[in-house]
Formats: sequence, structure tokens, C-alpha cells
Amino acid sequence: MASLRERLIGPAPVIVEEHGPDSFVPAHPAFFATKRNHLQLVLQARQDFLWIWRRNDYRNRYHQMNVFGRQLVIVNHPEGVKYVMATRHENFERKSPQMRRALEYLLGDGLFISDGSTWRQRRPLVADIVHKNRVPTFGRVMEEVAGEMATRWATLPEGRELNGLVEMAALTAEIISRTVFGNDLGEANAHEVIDGFSGYQNLIDSINIGYFLGFDEGLPVWRSRKLTHSVRRVHKVIDKVVDDHLAGRGDNNSMVELLVRRQQRNPELGLDRDALRNEAATIFMAGHETTAATLTWAWYLLSNSPWAERAVHDEIARVCGDRRPSVDDVPALDYCRAVIEETLRLYPPVPILARQAKEADRIADIDVKPAAIVMVVPWLLHRSVDLWEQPNNFRPERFLGQRPVPYGYIPFAIGPRICPGLNFGLTESILCLAILAQKFRVRVVPGTKVEPRCRLTLRPRGGLPITVTPR
Ligand code: HEM
Repeated sequence: MASLRERLIGPAPVIVEEHGPDSFVPAHPAFFATKRNHLQLVLQARQDFLWIWRRNDYRNRYHQMNVFGRQLVIVNHPEGVKYVMATRHENFERKSPQMRRALEYLLGDGLFISDGSTWRQRRPLVADIVHKNRVPTFGRVMEEVAGEMATRWATLPEGRELNGLVEMAALTAEIISRTVFGNDLGEANAHEVIDGFSGYQNLIDSINIGYFLGFDEGLPVWRSRKLTHSVRRVHKVIDKVVDDHLAGRGDNNSMVELLVRRQQRNPELGLDRDALRNEAATIFMAGHETTAATLTWAWYLLSNSPWAERAVHDEIARVCGDRRPSVDDVPALDYCRAVIEETLRLYPPVPILARQAKEADRIADIDVKPAAIVMVVPWLLHRSVDLWEQPNNFRPERFLGQRPVPYGYIPFAIGPRICPGLNFGLTESILCLAILAQKFRVRVVPGTKVEPRCRLTLRPRGGLPITVTPR
């Protein structure tokens, strides 16, 4: 018998996945096709934002709806993306109440969700910490940590099943800890953060009902015992990282040094311990979760596309021979880069960029009301039939040589709020992919039903069961 949820919103969509001799259409939900009312739409979005889209939503267009008296504007056109994220950035710099409320328990006023003067003061500080000039130095740590994972994988009994998502999250959490904080994280702590954040994502609502009940700022999320437990698991580890760091127990004091120098130059910043902790939590979470998701999806895609996996192996052999790929090789690893870029197109780790309008505005021919939600949706834009040939196919070659339409490809967002860790994240993904692919064939366990799930980030539901075989 159908569950109450199914009776209200219908069954979950069919997940489409198609294999050809030299083509692969990776898992995505089929279009939503039947009629629904606003209540059903909201319930469906609460379940999963990827379930709500109709065929027409995957076109370059602007679209608005009024849901329980609230205006929602969906901007799926490069021109509109430019307008919202860059030209009129100041009017659309605020994250949606849903995003602010969903993350404030975890990140306080950390950069990811701050705005106004807090954001303006802290942005240069955080951007400095992960600045692209520091990536070559960080690269050595990335090599080391990925090398350690390769050594561990080599000792695994044949056919041992791993959760690819957990493996990649442990890898990227260790990298962010050692690079930015100069501390070893260790397996046990990494797993605390990973499990804590997975629990958090599962519990947090995709919709802030308070906003639809008339509260422009939304309502705080209900801090249930389970949610509090998840937050404590993450905070405990991050607090230790920050404490060790402040006590000078890390190998490098870079984050503190940068902070102190900034504070000396601009005493009005008032960067106290809380601010440091919130920014540390932000860098830690934003800096490992997204890259972990990217690498996990990349293994899924390669595991199903032997021709692309072959091209990856050939390129690594050509560029690096038998030695371990290094950060200096990254500029020459064009195909590996294309695999990562194509992965970020198909599975952008932040699939929805939702903003709240400060003042009335006009986007294309839509009059936007103050406090309306304006959504730029990389998931839709990256699969727009007007921008991409065979948008649902995995084709890394599309990124070789030619660049996407400006403002049509935005896995790191765009405009003044663009991800400050862009170079860090790209280099890390390419390097880790190359180091592990040189030594192992990663296979998704046969029979696995892969399903993209959109919560705070876009992950495969339940992770990704894999096996790794030495090459
Ligand atoms: C593949 C990897 C990554 C992807 C796809 C990614 C994506 C994004 C996106 C889309 C945003 C903007 C969200 C929005 O405007 O709503 C963002 C912001 C941010 N990211 Fe990343 N990110 C990645 C890696 C990193 C890394 C490695 C770091 C740090 C080391 C980092 C730190 C941040 C921070 C601090 C922000 C907030 C910036 C602000 O609001 O001004 N990210 N990221």
C-alpha cells in the first residue's frame, strides 16, 4: 500500500541511467510530468529538490511562482545569472532564509552564510587563507595525503567493499586539516566529522516553513536531540583543531598569523575567538565536503565509462611515467581536468544557489518583490538543452579546448561570492584523482542503484559502494 507521503506527493521519480558501447548517461531523476498543487510542490521539494523539475525547466528561461504568497523566481539563463550574481550582487548577496537557518547551527556567522558588513570584512581574510598563491605549497600536502590513501588501499583484501563517499570525505578532510590548520586530523576524528555532517544533512529540512508562514528571516531550525548530537560531533573535532592551532601545536600557524596581521591592520574587525571558530568551521566544511562529493561522482562516472577511464590512465602514464603525479603535473593533466569539470557540470556539489532580494528589482520581465527568493540552479543550467549538446551524457571531451558559455557553467558560483577555494578545490580534485587512478581501478559494486540526492550538497544517496583493484 502507498505510504502517506506517496499518497500526498506521488511516488519518487524514476532514476534514469543509460549505458551504450561508448556513451554513458549517468543517474538523474526523470522529469516531473503530472499536475500538482503548491502544497504538493513544497512537500516534493522538502523530500528532494531534484524531484520537482519539469522538462521545460531544463531550458534557458526565467520563471516565477507564488507559493503561499511568497514569490520564487528561477533564473536559468546566463544573462540572468550575470545580473543576479554579479551586476546586482548587492541586492542578491543574502543567502535564502532556508540556507541561513539550515547552516547557522553549524557555522554561526561563518562566511558561507554571512552578508552585509560581516561578509565584506571577513571575505578578504578567508580568501587569503585559501588563496591560489598558496595552492602550490598546499599541493605537497595533497600529494602526501593521497599517497597515504593509496598505501592503505594497497593493503586491502581483494574485493573488499568500501563506501566511496566516506573514503573521499576522509581524504579531503585530512587534506583541509593539514593544509589550512597544520594539524593531522586522524581517521577517528575524520569519521566523527563525516558521520556528524551526514546526520546533519539528513535531518535538516530543505524548506524553511517559517518563511512561508510570513517570517522574512525564516525561523530557527528545531534543535532536536539528534540534530544537536550531530552538531556536537562536528564541533568537537573542529574545536580541537582550532584549539591546537591557537596553542601553536600545529606545524604551521598560517591561519592564525593571517588573522593577527589583518586584525593589527584593521582593529575594527574585532576578530575574536568565536569569529575564528566560525570561519574555521566554514573553511573546514566548505573545503572538504564539496571536493569529497566531486571525487565520489568522478569515480562513479569513470567506473561506468571505460573509454574515459582509459584516456585518464593514458594521460597519467604520458605525463608522469611511473612516478607519483605531483602538483606540478596538474597543468599538464588536461583530460583529468576535463573529467573533473564534466563531473562538476553533471553533479555540482552545491546544486542550488538561492538568494533573498533586499529590495524590489526587475529580472528580465519579472518584477521581483523585496524578500522574494531568487534561485540560480546549477543543476538546471548545467543540463540546459539550450547550452549543452547531449546535456545528460558524460562527455569530458566537451571541456577540452573550448570553454563553456560565460555564466552558463557555475559549479563554484560566480561574481563577488564566487568560491574562494576554487583553485584549491580544482587542484585537489585533479591531483587526488590522478594519484589514485594511477594505482587503482575503482569500480562501483555491481547492482548498485545510484541516486543523486540534494540536501545541503549533492551526494549519492547512502554513499557509493566501491571496490578498488590495484592496476
Ligand atoms: C570542488 C570543490 C568546491 C566546489 C564545487 C565549491 C563550490 C562553492 C560554491 C558554489 C560556493 C558558493 C555558494 C553560494 O554562493 O551559495 C562556495 C563558497 C565557498 N567555498 Fe567552495 N567549493 C569547493 C571547494 C572549496 C574549498 C576547497 C574551500 C576552502 C578551502 C572552499 C571554501 C568556500 C567558502 C569559504 C565559501 C563561502 C564564500 C562566500 O560566501 O564568500 N570551497 N563554494
